[in-house]
Amino acid sequence: MINPESEKYDRSEDNFRFQLRELQLREQDLEGKRILDIGAGWGDFAKKVKEKKIPGEIINLEPIIRPQKEVPRGFVAGIAQELPFPADTFDLVISTGSIPRLFFNFKDEAVRKENTIWALEEALRVVKPGSKIRMGRTDWRIGEEQIEPLRIGYLRDELPQIVQEFCAQNKCEVISVTPTLIIEKKLE
Ligand SMILES: C[S@@+](CC[C@H](N)C(=O)[O-])C[C@H]1O[C@@H](n2cnc3c(N)ncnc32)[C@H](O)[C@@H]1O
Repeated sequence: MINPESEKYDRSEDNFRFQLRELQLREQDLEGKRILDIGAGWGDFAKKVKEKKIPGEIINLEPIIRPQKEVPRGFVAGIAQELPFPADTFDLVISTGSIPRLFFNFKDEAVRKENTIWALEEALRVVKPGSKIRMGRTDWRIGEEQIEPLRIGYLRDELPQIVQEFCAQNKCEVISVTPTLIIEKKLE
């Protein structure tokens, strides 16, 4: 094991492995896909996919407050609740440590729900019919055991209910909620 303080330590490799586990994906599942990573952070996931020469394309979405021409290559500025892409664009939509983690920070339950639904609507709009949305619940620095009770309440109780209700009213099927949120967009 390499000491995280050493120069040889590759944070993005650890994070990539963590994200694959969280999203219940194997490297070969990514091949040839056009993927949207919502709340991509430093773009670790896309960086590793490129380094490993896995064919395909990953767009990193981050709320970057800069003109688009100054946004780094491979990144698009935007937020989960209003995605700047046309419908049916991606073969896979992923989000690790972002949605739904972002929304448990809102103190008001109605606000948490509203934002979660906006993000689900948008992810469902941009993913292609028959393709999946996969969302990990925590990020690699914070295990679920370290999350405070109010936030765990959102993940364990509120989120499953919101997702089930959402797919009952929209063209999607809930494949799983725990430990990974996996939703498939129904074919037209
Ligand atoms: C904990 S980090 C996770 C980063 C990366 N996915 C990872 O696992 O390393 C959460 C990210 O979500 C981004 N974020 C915050 N609000 C957002 C929003 N409304 N829509 C999309 N991304 C958002 C933050 O800028 C941050 O980079």
